[in-house]
Amino acid sequence: MTQQPTLITGGTGKVGTRIVSHLRRRNVAVRAGSRSGAPRFDWTAPDTWDAALRGSRTVFVLPHDGELLTWPFVQRARDLGVERVVLLSGRGVDVPGYAGDNSAAGRTHIDGEDAVRSCGPAWTILRPGWFAQNFSEGFFRDAVLAREVRRPVTVR
Ligand SMILES: NC(=O)c1ccc[n+]([C@@H]2O[C@H](COP(=O)([O-])OP(=O)(O)OC[C@H]3O[C@@H](n4cnc5c(N)ncnc54)[C@H](OP(=O)(O)O)[C@@H]3O)[C@@H](O)[C@H]2O)c1
Repeated sequence: MTQQPTLITGGTGKVGTRIVSHLRRRNVAVRAGSRSGAPRFDWTAPDTWDAALRGSRTVFVLPHDGELLTWPFVQRARDLGVERVVLLSGRGVDVPGYAGDNSAAGRTHIDGEDAVRSCGPAWTILRPGWFAQNFSEGFFRDAVLAREVRRPVTVR
């Protein structure tokens, strides 16, 4: 097993659990970053960041939507020796009016992309579109089970 753990922030969520189990199947040592983890990792408590980061060579950053915390987090990761950062962003964040500046999550992703490009460690940015899991695990699950999914549509 690889000795230096890969930190997966959001490691207990829909994206993170899949990454954690995929890496573990490949015998990669993994640390799932979460408020229930050991060590505990909390985006809103920077004094918990070091314990989660220390010893990691690679970090997968699932950012804290609505906050601009990716910059200080990636800077701290670099200072503690992290060599590679993989950032979960979102489709369309660089398209004016599409996603980025329209939503708190979009602003988080734009800020996060700037951070990983600028802070030093090697980086990869992922820009997924809608997750199919939104319908089976996410905010449409109850509507699907009730057999009625409503979405607003703009007609031009
Ligand atoms: N849904 C989509 O279609 C879509 C598309 C593109 C991009 N995205 C992006 O994907 C991300 C959401 O991923 P997801 O669906 O996997 O999220 P999720 O299932 O809601 O999981 C959220 C994760 O964040 C952790 N977390 C929440 N608050 C925290 C805090 N204060 N400190 C530390 N960890 C915290 C949770 O762990 P604990 O509760 O255990 O702490 C959990 O592991 C967002 O950035 C979103 O913009 C989503």
